[in-house]
Amino acid sequence: MSAQPLRLAHISDVHLIDEKTRLRMRDWLSKRAVGWANSRLTRSKLFRHAPEICRHLVEQLPTRQLDGVIFTGDATTIGTPREFSMASEIFAPLLQAMPGLAVPGNHDHYMRQSVRARLFETTFASWQTGLRVDEHVYPFARQLNGIWFVCVNSSRPNLAPWDSRGKVGQVQLDRLEKLMSSLPAGPKILVTHYPYQLGNGHPELRWRKLRDARKLWDIMGKEAFFWFHGHRHVRYHLPIIGSSCVEVCVGSSTQEGRWSYHEYTFARDQLVMLHRMWNKADHRFDDVSEEIIPMPEAWQKHF
Ligand SMILES: [Fe+2]
Ligand SMILES: [Fe+2]
Repeated sequence: MSAQPLRLAHISDVHLIDEKTRLRMRDWLSKRAVGWANSRLTRSKLFRHAPEICRHLVEQLPTRQLDGVIFTGDATTIGTPREFSMASEIFAPLLQAMPGLAVPGNHDHYMRQSVRARLFETTFASWQTGLRVDEHVYPFARQLNGIWFVCVNSSRPNLAPWDSRGKVGQVQLDRLEKLMSSLPAGPKILVTHYPYQLGNGHPELRWRKLRDARKLWDIMGKEAFFWFHGHRHVRYHLPIIGSSCVEVCVGSSTQEGRWSYHEYTFARDQLVMLHRMWNKADHRFDDVSEEIIPMPEAWQKHF
């Protein structure tokens, strides 16, 4: 492993909204109508600064001596082609400038059409390179400075409008087992959109949870030192009981009042987690706090 500590930014849940989206007749009978109404009533206010903040991140992250970016999904609000072209236009310079890892959120995989058309995967293609099983997109694993980042898709469209549960699915779990057994030695970090648990250690709510979180944990639990995710728009981190894994939810990078992101520095003995928050008055991110997570012995053996 490189003596130089790895430095990564972690952004998530930026929820770009296309205000000009108009629904077609057939959309009114679909879940897209509910998402569209929700975005008009609440999200368009909460995320009205999202394009400005994203453009700022795209410009500033390459200047911050980072080795890459983790993006844990929800680039869009209802996953329309117009929202993905917005995301593509805004993120293109960063996708070219820096290596990255990207997994879709439930809002990116909101509708079957968007999943079938691979809108997220096309937009973030350069952040989805790595080792995989055959030609399947998920899961994939990429090594940065000797650390393996194992990226799993936990999002899929649900039929009912109130259902925002995630699922990895048995087929992907089987591939994950195969991928994990084929990876060379090195510390592993799991990257998904959905959390394992809430910030208070309780399970996620019934209609919002990752349905097969336990099965995912059974495969990754012994190996992963961290589980990075988004989905919840408030940031938190806590250990997963009975393991040396720490779960880190970065929260939303653009939601009014919560807008923040993390910068991680992975050293042999600790992870330094810098929390940076959007300063609305000065149009920039400011450092808020630095949290230190000590690394377990098993991690240190890899250095
Ligand atoms: Fe979100
Ligand atoms: Fe989400």
